[in-house]
Amino acid sequence: MLTLAIIKPDAVGAGYTGKILAHLEGAGFVIRAARLVKLTGAQAAGFYEVHRERPFYRSLVTFMTSGPALALALERDDAVARLREVIGATDPAEAKPGTVRKLYAESKERNAIHASDSPENAAREVAFFFAEGELRELSGGRH
Ligand code: CMP
Repeated sequence: MLTLAIIKPDAVGAGYTGKILAHLEGAGFVIRAARLVKLTGAQAAGFYEVHRERPFYRSLVTFMTSGPALALALERDDAVARLREVIGATDPAEAKPGTVRKLYAESKERNAIHASDSPENAAREVAFFFAEGELRELSGGRH
């Protein structure tokens, strides 16, 4: 099963990309596709469309366009739920010890990483960044 993660501009800018990738791989996720992107306002607004009415929406779009971010299609069994466990609560102050957000996030908005919140959204979000042909087949190794 696939899910989408985005290592956000705060974490990429702080130089945490490699550490976060190692954390995700160590938790059993396999990278099926990856792209360093700098989102346009239209792209970020579209990606976070479901939050359009929320008070933090404009600020979130500004933040997500503020620098490069790394979009990842990740595979694992039960990938959506497992990735959400590994990254921790939205607010790093509430995230459990050892989670990506506890380790690397700055704030509720600048929270280092995004992960899809349902299998339906995972399919939509993977397709938002990657075409079918960009999802590499797994070969060798543990999977
Ligand atoms: P993410 O998992 O990408 O989904 C929506 C994002 O909105 C979230 O991570 C945060 O970056 C941001 N966000 C959610 N809640 C708040 C909030 N209360 N204040 C500011 N930003 C928020």
